[in-house]
Amino acid sequence: MIDIHTLKFRRQKLANLIHFPTVLWSGKSPSRNFKANHYPFRGSSHFLYFAGLPLENAAIRLENGKLDLFMDNPSPDSTLWHGEMPTREDIARKIEADNHYPMEVLKDKIDGVATIPVQDHFTYEKQRELLQRSLSGNQELKEIDYQLMKAIITLRLTHDDLALKEIKKAVDVAVEAHKMGIKSTKNCSTEAEVRATMESYIMSQNMTCAYNSIVTVHGEVLHNETYHNLLKSGDLILADVGAETSLGWASDITRTWPVKGQFSSSQRDIYDVVLAAHDACIQKIKPGIEYRDIHLLGAKIIAEGLVNLGILKGHPDTLVEKDAHAVFFPHGIGHLLGLDVHDMEDLGDLAGYEEGRKRSDRFGLGYLRLDRPLKAGMIVTIEPGFYQVPAILNHPKFQEKYNKDINWDKLKQFSDVRGIRIEDDILVTETGAEILTQNLPTRVEEIEKMMN
Ligand code: GLY
Ligand code: MN
Ligand code: MN
Repeated sequence: MIDIHTLKFRRQKLANLIHFPTVLWSGKSPSRNFKANHYPFRGSSHFLYFAGLPLENAAIRLENGKLDLFMDNPSPDSTLWHGEMPTREDIARKIEADNHYPMEVLKDKIDGVATIPVQDHFTYEKQRELLQRSLSGNQELKEIDYQLMKAIITLRLTHDDLALKEIKKAVDVAVEAHKMGIKSTKNCSTEAEVRATMESYIMSQNMTCAYNSIVTVHGEVLHNETYHNLLKSGDLILADVGAETSLGWASDITRTWPVKGQFSSSQRDIYDVVLAAHDACIQKIKPGIEYRDIHLLGAKIIAEGLVNLGILKGHPDTLVEKDAHAVFFPHGIGHLLGLDVHDMEDLGDLAGYEEGRKRSDRFGLGYLRLDRPLKAGMIVTIEPGFYQVPAILNHPKFQEKYNKDINWDKLKQFSDVRGIRIEDDILVTETGAEILTQNLPTRVEEIEKMMN
């Protein structure tokens, strides 16, 4: 359901932040060989935020809180192929556009407008042609485009009630999909079957996946998108699966569970280290806390846990200072979540990084996607992990650098742990945090109970 009051409020809030007109394009899905066979359409998130509906091949012009809609009516023969479609007028009424025009009128209304480049090539070229300027590359970015990006970031960094309601719907569906995946695993023989169980629930709720699902017994491949492996009795399965509502809002959840329904003692030991980091990081969330410090806390708890297991040697603080934790936990503790699973990362690090901050080139910090103090209304993921990545462990540079910090013989005892990640979606509240995904268990006993 679209909520006109909120959409109008967003349009007015943008007008309070910038004093020039804006045009946002929704984008268009590319063809897949045969011209009329398209990839699924996913509108630009910035367009969706103000327009509220996933309209293909449309644009909106925003000025002083008013919205003009530009799109063409369905062609006469489209009724044959697509059935009765709403007219531009119907849509304009629905989203309370102040005016509506055919697409060709847009060229007369683009003087002095700011924009954000869309990601599909077809629309991007149209944007460039119409505005007659470059749209990307930081030095070339027009000042008003930059100001627009900053204004939209200000709005989208924290979530209004409509966004929150949608994200909670996406969360609830993904939680159920994970429960079904966990419960069905003992009856599945391949990764693909577990994936199908999870995604079919998402589809049955008329949602889509918020990103390509990861459902794998090779969790050490961080974004593994193949599903052909057989499930073997001693394997762990890592599933990172999120749903997206019809209005475009996302969830992002990871759980790791044993194929046979019971963790081995080595798997359990490492799982509990990751879980301790996960719990401590969530515990720490409240307004004003630096997300980078949460990442470093996660890193320290993982280092501490691995020292206790005899895998790392030394003091956890010193190990984190030299990035030894990153041999096993090479990514960041999480990211912003909203309309995009990695929210607003089409803008590079502009949204994730506080003004004036840059990504570190440190091994243990370079993949941190968010480096800002937290604010009430933000939604972030917390997703620590442990991985035995051959490209890291077998790399001479890392072997040399961390030779004395790692007990390689001890590590061999944990060879049945290739990858573990536990990921939840967290709303920052005025006083702390709300775990939106809390209905999905994280503890070993709870997961084993669900499976058996
Ligand atoms: N699904 C990608 C991520 O967790 O960041
Ligand atoms: Mn994530
Ligand atoms: Mn994820």
